[in-house]
Amino acid sequence: MVVENVVHMNAGDGESSYANNSSVQKSLLLKSRQVLEDSINDYGINGFPQCFKLADLGCSSGPNTLFLVNTVIDIVHATCQHKDFHVPEFQVFLNDLPGNDFNTIFKMVQPFHSRLADEKGDTCKDKCFISGVPGSFYTRLFPSTSLDFIHSSSSLHWLSQVPEKLESNKGHIHLAEGSPPGIFQAYLNQYTRDFSTFLRLRCREITPNGRMVLAFQGRSSADPISSGCILFELLAKSLHDMSSEGFLREADIDSFNIPFYNPTTYEVKVIIDTEGFFSLKSLQTFKHDVEIQSSSDKDTRGRMVAKVFRVVNEPMLVAHFGDTYMDKLFQRYAQRVAEYISKNKLEFLHLVISLNRNTN
Ligand SMILES: C[S@@+](CC[C@H](N)C(=O)[O-])C[C@H]1O[C@@H](n2cnc3c(N)ncnc32)[C@H](O)[C@@H]1O
Repeated sequence: MVVENVVHMNAGDGESSYANNSSVQKSLLLKSRQVLEDSINDYGINGFPQCFKLADLGCSSGPNTLFLVNTVIDIVHATCQHKDFHVPEFQVFLNDLPGNDFNTIFKMVQPFHSRLADEKGDTCKDKCFISGVPGSFYTRLFPSTSLDFIHSSSSLHWLSQVPEKLESNKGHIHLAEGSPPGIFQAYLNQYTRDFSTFLRLRCREITPNGRMVLAFQGRSSADPISSGCILFELLAKSLHDMSSEGFLREADIDSFNIPFYNPTTYEVKVIIDTEGFFSLKSLQTFKHDVEIQSSSDKDTRGRMVAKVFRVVNEPMLVAHFGDTYMDKLFQRYAQRVAEYISKNKLEFLHLVISLNRNTN
């Protein structure tokens, strides 16, 4: 599986698009607001450059994409008003994998400009320039020292590739109870390689003293089988249901593994310290409890969770298993989730880190 071709969200703005099912990710953006504010204001303590260059990595397509851009402009604008600074121009680079639905974002840009002019008046009119940058954030994306600020939310838990040496992880599709020894290390090794690469590349692209805020899924305990992985375990069980009913082949399940890793704060800190490109200014963790999102019955909640999970994971599943049985698979999945959440809490941990580029 070429991860770059399949780890994108469901396109468009229909019923099962990411655009219509991204409220969990929106809640993380809202929780990160203070960290963003602190980081940007610290960068602009003596004023902002004439053009503030910002990149959002793993921007996807939907309301969250321009919500983030709007948040950053709001923060800079408020600071400029408060301190009587000149409001800069904004150059915004929206990055995602080439399979991302950039067209849906581009169609939102004109209305966004109109709203910005209405809300902020002449100080922001004709000052925001938005473009798309297709490519993996595990490769170089921007010229050297060209960015003031880098942001990424709900994206960095995706690996650049499925870890090597997972052949013995038969019956599972991710780290799971019963995964043989060595599987956890394979995931951790891949994550370490990827996050180190990410830091090295961004260090070259950001200005000396530039800032970066990253938010992604993590886990609270050193035990790799965290609650953050349970949704993949339930997916594996649903795939096996489909195989026992004759819709899928066991061999295809055995060769499928999810390129996802949710690190502990300790693992993240070790990589940042070892690489030395950035210093960690703050690290916050937020619990996201899916149960508190809804007061409806368990089957409805099961279907809701399955829908949100589907928009993120379907392109990857289709690439491996084909699209014939996706509806059936996600019906079984919704039942599995409903069953699980009737007895257990569905809880995720989000990490939000703020980094300053080291100048030496
Ligand atoms: C869940 S979406 C998050 C979108 C948005 N940032 C938000 O907060 O709603 C994750 C995005 O990360 C993108 N992504 C995953 N791996 C990537 C990579 N290596 N390079 C660029 N984008 C990547 C996916 O294509 C997807 O659009």
